[in-house]
Amino acid sequence: MLNKKFKHLKKKIKINNKFFKNRIISSPISINMASKGYVTKNIINFFSNLAKSGVSMVTIGAAAVSEQGNDTLNGMILGPNKYLNKLKLLSKSIKKFNAYSSIQIYHVGAQGNPIHNKQEIVGPSKYFCKSIGIECKTLSLKEIKKIKDDFIQAIIQAENANFDFIEIHLAHGYLLHEFLSKHFNKRTDLYGKSLINRFRLISEILEDVYKKNPKIKGKIGFRLSANDYVKNGLNINELKKIVKLIDKYQPAYFVITAGLYETAKFKYIDMKKGKYWEYAKKIKQITKTAVIAQGGITNIEDGEKLIKKKFCDLFGMAQSLIADPGLIKKALNKKEKDIIPCIAHLKIGACHRCRYLKQKNLTFSCITPTSWKPNSDVLSKNEIKKDLKIWKKLNNEVYGNKKEI
Ligand SMILES: Cc1cc2nc3c(=O)[nH]c(=O)nc-3n(C[C@H](O)[C@H](O)[C@H](O)COP(=O)(O)O)c2cc1C
Ligand code: SF4
Repeated sequence: MLNKKFKHLKKKIKINNKFFKNRIISSPISINMASKGYVTKNIINFFSNLAKSGVSMVTIGAAAVSEQGNDTLNGMILGPNKYLNKLKLLSKSIKKFNAYSSIQIYHVGAQGNPIHNKQEIVGPSKYFCKSIGIECKTLSLKEIKKIKDDFIQAIIQAENANFDFIEIHLAHGYLLHEFLSKHFNKRTDLYGKSLINRFRLISEILEDVYKKNPKIKGKIGFRLSANDYVKNGLNINELKKIVKLIDKYQPAYFVITAGLYETAKFKYIDMKKGKYWEYAKKIKQITKTAVIAQGGITNIEDGEKLIKKKFCDLFGMAQSLIADPGLIKKALNKKEKDIIPCIAHLKIGACHRCRYLKQKNLTFSCITPTSWKPNSDVLSKNEIKKDLKIWKKLNNEVYGNKKEI
């Protein structure tokens, strides 16, 4: 029997000219399974599997605007013409399951790893990334112009590849966030110091994109950081000012997140306390643009409450849907007991395997028995068996064997 209790999350919402069938989206997940930057079968299968889960929009995890902007060895790239056809297949595969698609685009900036992207690591100004052990080079004006052109090209390609939305990554310490945050940006030229200057690269990208293709207006969403957890970094008050600036450009939506590589520890604690949702609420109070809350949402009941209490207009889930893509259907059909949860959501630090595998350039996979599995040419039956063993062990440790299958 269908569950009637999810009244708010089942309410349609219109963003730009699109009616969303519900308020649940899958948050961006990058799976490090591209081949030389190109979309692969595994990428198509992973995201179309999410589209089947019942979300109204699937966000494709960060695709880089250039090789230099890439974070992982097998990250997706977009912009150059050669990538277009496979990107079209990806957007089509999501549409097929009645979900909208949004592709997140980024440049890794000063948190880049030269072992992965084989490029010089760059940022708005000198910055030493402790977790990688690399100090970036300061970008020249000429290099900033090149990066601006890469973003413009990537956004236009995303539109040509028929994605419904394009999400610009302005968070997690990646390059455009670095320009916004005084923690990274110590420039004294037109791209530094005042907020208007730190926002300049973003405004230049948006203005040029709209000039080149006005149809893109209304289709760009933004992932925003409400807290860098460092002195001089972004905080909620600064973010409110940034939201006011972006609002002039007819954005599609804002997704609220927080943290940098160097402050990852704080972000998990904050997330667990529901602080990310509080940040979303504060942003919702000052904008008419749709706000998406996310971070540590483990079940759709919590999402329902967040919408009802006006913390957000939509909500996003990543790890819960990785662990069990059947979660939404099970909950809507009153089969909550059958949901296999993400281990990391119950105990901070207990798993996070899906994240660290890609950092080590290993094949993305989740240990739960319900998760999507890559093609057998990538992950053998034995490896899947091994995963299941790890899951059973962690399951016992964390849940006291409550979740047996
Ligand atoms: C494997 C993995 C890949 C991720 N990739 C991205 C990404 O490409 N871009 C991004 O903004 N966030 C990324 N995230 C963060 C998620 O979108 C989300 O913000 C985070 O996992 C917290 O939400 P959750 O508790 O629902 O998982 C990733 C998370 C995971 C676990
Ligand atoms: S690999 Fe671990 S942390 Fe990642 S979704 Fe699966 S259970 Fe959660």
